[in-house]
Amino acid sequence: MCGIVGYIGKDNGINLVLDGLEELEYRGYDSAGIAFINDPKSNVYKEVGEVKNLKKIVQKDKPNSNLIIGHTRWATHGKPSIVNAHPHFNSDRTIYVVHNGIIENYQEIKNRLIDQGYNFISETDSEVIPHLIDYYYSKTNNILESIKLALNDLVGTYALEIISTLTPQKLYLARLGSPLVIGIMKNGYITGSDKNVVLEHTSKATFLNDYDLAEVSLSKLKIINLKDKDSNPPKIELLENEKTGNDLGNFPDYMLKEIHDTPETIKLAVTGRINPKQGNVKLGGLDSVIKELEHIDRIIIVACGTSYYAGLVGEYLIEELANIPVEVVLASEFKYKKEPISRSACVIAISQSGETADTIAALNKVKDYGVLELGIVNSIGSSVARLTDAGVYCHAGTEKSVASTKAFISQVTILTLVALRLKKSPDKISRKILSELQALPQKIKTVLNLENQIKELAKRYKDYSNFLYIGRGYNYPAALEGALKLKEISYIHAEGFAAGEMKHGPLALIDSKFPTFAIATDGPLLEKTISNIEEIKARGGPVLAVATIGNKKLKKLVDDVIYIPKTLEQTSTQLIGVVLQLFAYYMAHELSKNIDKPRNLAKSVTVE
Ligand code: AGP
Repeated sequence: MCGIVGYIGKDNGINLVLDGLEELEYRGYDSAGIAFINDPKSNVYKEVGEVKNLKKIVQKDKPNSNLIIGHTRWATHGKPSIVNAHPHFNSDRTIYVVHNGIIENYQEIKNRLIDQGYNFISETDSEVIPHLIDYYYSKTNNILESIKLALNDLVGTYALEIISTLTPQKLYLARLGSPLVIGIMKNGYITGSDKNVVLEHTSKATFLNDYDLAEVSLSKLKIINLKDKDSNPPKIELLENEKTGNDLGNFPDYMLKEIHDTPETIKLAVTGRINPKQGNVKLGGLDSVIKELEHIDRIIIVACGTSYYAGLVGEYLIEELANIPVEVVLASEFKYKKEPISRSACVIAISQSGETADTIAALNKVKDYGVLELGIVNSIGSSVARLTDAGVYCHAGTEKSVASTKAFISQVTILTLVALRLKKSPDKISRKILSELQALPQKIKTVLNLENQIKELAKRYKDYSNFLYIGRGYNYPAALEGALKLKEISYIHAEGFAAGEMKHGPLALIDSKFPTFAIATDGPLLEKTISNIEEIKARGGPVLAVATIGNKKLKKLVDDVIYIPKTLEQTSTQLIGVVLQLFAYYMAHELSKNIDKPRNLAKSVTVE
């Protein structure tokens, strides 16, 4: 959940690291810090809040250094504070460390070091690392050996960057379960927890593997694997300079920009992949496993959060279109479930960031099962993309707002393509769906034109403390996702339910203070959803509805209705998703929330 940046080179890298931290701020933003070596001196700056606060105190002193590490934090152990911010250091201030991950046995190590006379100043798990390296240095008098011994004691996950005044021209990196990439520049190396930091400066990079330990100096990049000494170091790759989507343009924040990206997002998801006339879908990323795909008889989708809800839409799509049984399991549950999985199953991991620890853990659970593992990922070259046998990239460009919007729209679109690709042979419904996918960007623009109406609705509903979202069939996952969007950026309690569940309990919640967002677009289950709405109205519950243009009956029944263009049931989620994203956005806006960086959350949940 944290962001790490490091630099070693011929130039003054202070601003390069600070800018890199700003680039990674979406991964965690409760405090930040840098440490650097100016042989023989070292220095450290830390500040709470956003990176701009750190920038202010650092740039005042105009420091100069060619060896720097930086960190932007999402607190796991210890509240956001200067003392808990990274980098952490040993008492002699000869060793500085930034850490992303969780050290599960930190208390035991901390107690052992305290018994040896070490003093701790923070509440974090990470602070044990510089002291542990210090302890081993007192025995070995060798920093690299001390780091190896310290890593051997750690249980948990880590992406580490380490500098020391004892080796003033060396940068050390170590990875276990949390990503690290080294960018190779003309006059040095830029490193970090996300390739976006590197892409600003070079397209040549290498991604560390688990148990890799790198020693980087101006003249040399040495990578060893602590688990398999004979393994080859990770290869140097050319990074795809994907559409980074970093330019905010005239938008007030990334979330609104990324919602407005969605027409283009769908085009990027389908371009070069569909032939509506023949009903054919071509997914190059699956070509290498085409034979295995023909023999799968069960699909297990693993994901978290919004990606999980996209997976639920995928369940309806794949079961209906490809006639293959699908189960969607929360990755955090899947990794502990004891369920029979035969070799004819296929596990599909859906992840925007490709770095979600629970989803990676779910893939690692089945890596020796002999099952086919596929990824639907937005971040090119990410851990999920590397861990799976094959997959499909979303190509949605970087999504920076913590609340996932365009990635969800892309994931649902990609799952539609996967479902059609898995069909035994294309037919009329294939051609209809692919034609509708081509028409969808224009229909989403029509939905985006409803922005002012939705903004007015938010003004009317912003004071409610609870919301229910209901839907049936394809609209059920859309309801779950709509509820997540509202709660994660407005902090209003919101729950999604299958509309058919109302009488089994949720109806007890309904009164005039408990509004319901009913997704009631045209489809075979519309009349049943209307019955649920009538039950709610009969108990005085306010109802907003999303409906298909032309449904006049609903307008008389509910308090407010948002009309979306006619579309197929199988392609309705994208249109409904944008409505619910805009509603959540304007509710949070009305409540003056920090929309791109909601409290307590981070964009990429890289810890379990
Ligand atoms: C969605 O708005 C949230 N930011 C969160 O639920 C997110 O979808 C989840 O953490 C999964 O992330 P991933 O797609 O990068 O794996």
